[in-house]
Amino acid sequence: MRVTLFGTGYVGLVTGACLAEVGNQVCCVDIDAAKIARLNRGEIPIHEPGLEDMVRANRAAGRLNFTTDGRVGVAHGEILMIAVGTPPDEDGSADLSHVLAVARTIGRHLTDPALVVNKSTVPVGTTALVRETIAAELAARDVTIDFDVVSNPEFLKEGDAVKDCMRPDRIVIGADSAGAVELLKRLYAPFNRNHERIVTMDPRSAELTKYAANAMLATKISFMNEMANIAERVGADIEMVRRGIGSDPRIGHHFIYPGVGYGGSCFPKDVQALGRTAREHGYEPRILDAVEAVNRRQKDKLFELIAHHFGGRLSGRTIAVWGLAFKPNTDDMREAPSRALLQRLWEAGAKVRVYDPEAMDEARRIFGARADLALCDSAQAAVDGADALAVVTEWKAFWSPDFVALRERLREPVIFDGRNIYDPAQVEAAGLAYYGIGRGRSL
Ligand code: UGA
Repeated sequence: MRVTLFGTGYVGLVTGACLAEVGNQVCCVDIDAAKIARLNRGEIPIHEPGLEDMVRANRAAGRLNFTTDGRVGVAHGEILMIAVGTPPDEDGSADLSHVLAVARTIGRHLTDPALVVNKSTVPVGTTALVRETIAAELAARDVTIDFDVVSNPEFLKEGDAVKDCMRPDRIVIGADSAGAVELLKRLYAPFNRNHERIVTMDPRSAELTKYAANAMLATKISFMNEMANIAERVGADIEMVRRGIGSDPRIGHHFIYPGVGYGGSCFPKDVQALGRTAREHGYEPRILDAVEAVNRRQKDKLFELIAHHFGGRLSGRTIAVWGLAFKPNTDDMREAPSRALLQRLWEAGAKVRVYDPEAMDEARRIFGARADLALCDSAQAAVDGADALAVVTEWKAFWSPDFVALRERLREPVIFDGRNIYDPAQVEAAGLAYYGIGRGRSL
């Protein structure tokens, strides 16, 4: 099939590459000329395991093309997918300007019948808005062309995006017409083998499904962070509690890891946007508000432990920070808990020495050069000359350090483990003080 993706961010690029991989002719459109130039040279702007090889192979095979020309994209696809960003507006609602700009481009250039598929995370009612926007452009051109708009939200995770796209656990299609569902079933057939993964519904329900999924996951995390803060005060270990509750299949082991709060480009923005939608419809979303408030507080948690340990005197101290990305296997630092920690440390007069396996360029771009920031090229270099170590992102490379060597390198041998990846007894046996999240001591 001929498919066009508008937007070459995580969702657009990964979806485009995966659809080409199974034999479709895919055209990816982006208004960012520099990005398209890089993609045409075979350079991938994001760190995503497996993506680079897939993009290269499919470009070489002639199944995947990149352009800045919206007209070319519209002419190419019998299926036109919208996968552009919906960043938060000042008031927390989702900014639809990019989505509607694509809808206008489609309306301006459409010559043949097409199915428009929205993959961007959008507030309930946007499918209808996209339909109206395209229809208005066609009316302005005084032409009648058959088109349909469906909602097809994306559930891929950064770091696992290619795998999630090739082996989705569900494919949600929100459509008003049986024809649209049939066409998408054919497109997704290679990803829908062995058992049925396609769930069909009306567009509004599909749009809400996306927000409900992310809000539920964010709720699990904030709930566990709240339990961790209680565990800490009552002298319990949240890691024991996590195992104890996760073994109940109704609760499950996934997404109940306490830590330094959730970050990334999705949870913070989507919880806020859903809250906004609820308010617009006259409903006060108490749980969503609490999820967000708990998360905001949790992002300060590691700083508070550090400040507590040093008796509030951080001026002149140097803290080593392992991990900057909002989670492992990505270089993405959007809403990353590391940023909140660095900010607080700097405000308190401390210096930081940071290392992340993938996000160093991103850190350079965000923070620039500053005297209180040392961008180090290894985990070891980051701890050299530091007073203490804070672990913010649970990259596998950080899981088994030589604790004795760490004790010797750190001026004040103490580890602040923001992801509970270490065994406190092992750390303490090596002669270091240990602080985790919700592990029965500290504040
Ligand atoms: C999330 C969802 O997991 C995807 O299903 C969804 O498609 C995506 O948002 C999106 O809307 O595009 P992502 O933001 O890539 O994916 O990252 P997650 O793996 O969900 O992690 C989000 C944050 O939660 C990270 O900061 C992570 O460290 C934190 N987290 C996750 C915890 O603190 N504890 C956990 O148990 C799990």
